[in-house]
Amino acid sequence: MIPTVLPTYNRAPLSFERGAGSWLEASDGRRFLDLGAGIAVNALGHAHPALVAALTEQAGKIWHLSNLYEIPQQQALADALVEQTFADTVFFTNSGTEACELAVKMARKYWYEKGQPERVKIITFSGSFHGRSAAGIAAAGSEKMTKGFGPLLPGFVHLEFGDHDALTAAMQDPEVGAVLVEPVQGEGGIRVVPDQCLKGLRDLCDQTGALMILDEVQCGVGRTGKLFGHEWAGITPDIMMVAKGIGGGFPLGAVLATETAASGMIAGTHGSTYGGNPLACAVGSAVMGIVGDDAFLAEVNRKAGLFRQRLEGLVAAHPDVFEEVRGSGLMLGLKCRVPNIDVVNAGYDAELLTVPAADNVIRLLPALNIEDADIAEAVNRLDKAATAVKVDAA
Ligand SMILES: Cc1ncc(COP(=O)(O)O)c(C=O)c1O
Repeated sequence: MIPTVLPTYNRAPLSFERGAGSWLEASDGRRFLDLGAGIAVNALGHAHPALVAALTEQAGKIWHLSNLYEIPQQQALADALVEQTFADTVFFTNSGTEACELAVKMARKYWYEKGQPERVKIITFSGSFHGRSAAGIAAAGSEKMTKGFGPLLPGFVHLEFGDHDALTAAMQDPEVGAVLVEPVQGEGGIRVVPDQCLKGLRDLCDQTGALMILDEVQCGVGRTGKLFGHEWAGITPDIMMVAKGIGGGFPLGAVLATETAASGMIAGTHGSTYGGNPLACAVGSAVMGIVGDDAFLAEVNRKAGLFRQRLEGLVAAHPDVFEEVRGSGLMLGLKCRVPNIDVVNAGYDAELLTVPAADNVIRLLPALNIEDADIAEAVNRLDKAATAVKVDAA
């Protein structure tokens, strides 16, 4: 008989009752160190006092307001995002996949209004992940995500990650209207697009007029040590998808855009019942108030340096389990030599949460405010997990 919850997830047999900072308490009382943070969602850990206060204060006033009316909490968060980024305007969603839907619509509408409606094609890359909606799976294009769900939304051109020649050639197609890329692939295995390549892509977009759409759903909001990952490359996109960390655990996403890129999106062209609701935006503003601060980001970079150094030591100590450390800031990956899921499972036994990704990588996406002592403890637990994997394999 089918489970009462549709069985689309492979769940670990763990359930948690409460959390504080980087720690989660299981229903059997065990305390787990959380290096997954809800897959880069709980940017400030669990039950951060400022976020709890923002949510409960707003909950006592108004939960929901239709976008038929003005929503001051939404306006405040949009103003903060515009002030701190390349963007001139923001649309709020409830998730990353909804942000993908709008990014695709916005790019196509831009070219339609410019009198070049044939520029519908959007270039994407292997290993990418943009959500599970019809546009999201068509954009990623992998068999794993698309098989059985056709006919797929047309217009996506899938290129090999890192194939510069193919990219340069594909950009010459007069029907290409946009390129969609994650500055750091998350699900794809913590694969960083080198700064030089992002710059080169920006140049190609400038030459052809194609819009640059960045998917910063996983790598944004302080995760790489900058407010947004593309800042390391010194470039700006035309459109950017944001979600996960921006809500600190409350469902919230956004599409940020320049005035030009957004010019086709006039009243009536897009909408969302819940997008930009007062609860989500109150929390989002509290997140931005903390993560958007330079001193906070400097701390993320310091912690990232510390963590990475310790992880290099771990890899050196277990060369038969781990191949390398990769990533940017606190978006880190350990490429494994043994099946990554074995390491994740051994982590559970050591009361440590990590997240598997493609390319046989385990993801380490801790709260951005993880304590130094917890970084040391995380590496101890990873060491324990690696030792257990070796013993099991022997
Ligand atoms: C890069 C990226 N884009 C889009 C999404 C989809 O976001 P959501 O699950 O909130 O719909 C994700 C989720 O993992 C993601 O990592």
